[in-house]
Amino acid sequence: MARDTSLFSGRPSELIGRQVAGYRIEREIGRGGMAVVYRARDLRLERTVALKLLAPELARNDTFRLRFTHESRAAAAIDHPHIVPVYEAGETDGVLYIAMRYVEGSDLRHLLDRRGPLAPSAALRIAAQVASALDAAHEHGLVHRDVKPGNILVARGTDSDHPEHAYLTDFGLTKKSLSLTGFTSVGQFVGTLDYVAPEQISGRPVDGRCDVYGFACVVYESLAGRPPFRRDDDMALLWAHQYDEPPPLTEFRPDLAPDTDAVFARAMAKSPDDRHDSCRAFVTALRTATTGETPLDHPPTEVARQVAEEPPQSPPRWAEPVFRPPDPLR
Ligand SMILES: Nc1ncnc2c1ncn2[C@@H]1O[C@H](COP(=O)(O)OP(=O)(O)O)[C@@H](O)[C@H]1O
Ligand SMILES: [Mg+2]
Repeated sequence: MARDTSLFSGRPSELIGRQVAGYRIEREIGRGGMAVVYRARDLRLERTVALKLLAPELARNDTFRLRFTHESRAAAAIDHPHIVPVYEAGETDGVLYIAMRYVEGSDLRHLLDRRGPLAPSAALRIAAQVASALDAAHEHGLVHRDVKPGNILVARGTDSDHPEHAYLTDFGLTKKSLSLTGFTSVGQFVGTLDYVAPEQISGRPVDGRCDVYGFACVVYESLAGRPPFRRDDDMALLWAHQYDEPPPLTEFRPDLAPDTDAVFARAMAKSPDDRHDSCRAFVTALRTATTGETPLDHPPTEVARQVAEEPPQSPPRWAEPVFRPPDPLR
């Protein structure tokens, strides 16, 4: 048998200090169901990156590979302040990898686990940023499919008016829509079912509104401190997403206005047609319900740069005709 040269053949800690596709691995940041993320040094550009190495079994799945290539290209093409910029995606030694901006901070999963539910103002600030990222992706024809707290990275913001800067990451990296529930070849579930939309479960076509559902579940959890559905096993959870009504958020947050419940009921409607059209529409409705604030109607500042100089309206002075009409008085 050929020696297994996979980057995953040893313990991931053995990769520390090693060079992979032009990156020197410095330390492990974390791991999910199908990838390990490292802080690494880009040796060509001399900068720190987050290097994500996907489990080798994913490279062997042709459907996944195709979508990985397509969607990492599409995600790299979106230049958005709340989407983690992808620097490079490729394959080395049979392992798919992505190099992206290293985000110093935490992810929403860790924040919620450590600190519990967020204050409404913080939840709304973070939600507004993630919503604009999701809507931008949808405008580019990309559906995230795996909106969850672990895929929302939260860095320190610029100042006290913007205390945090949220980034959305991991486009198209879910296995969920490849098979019913994303079981790996060894039968383990990959990822979480807390945020999966009913149409994803039943295998119907998905569009941006499946992200509205998942995103609403995330915002619900960031306020309630628990996801909308809690069940004893995965099958019961899948059933709940398809057929049960989530408990009203105000059961867990009586401090929030009752109108909040209707906003979540709509965003988490079973049928995509009954949900808000966009993630920002959901956040706007949520802000109005919780704070009574109506959306600001501010006309955008015109910032478009003039790309080409307009041709001069009149000929330049040096091109003025030398001919002058004869002076009639002369
Ligand atoms: N660009 C990044 N910068 C910093 N940390 C990251 C970055 N991308 C992912 N991480 C961290 O790496 C860990 C593992 O990520 P991932 O494999 O996507 O698992 P999951 O999304 O299931 O949590 C997460 O804790 C996340 O916070
Ligand atoms: Mg992730």
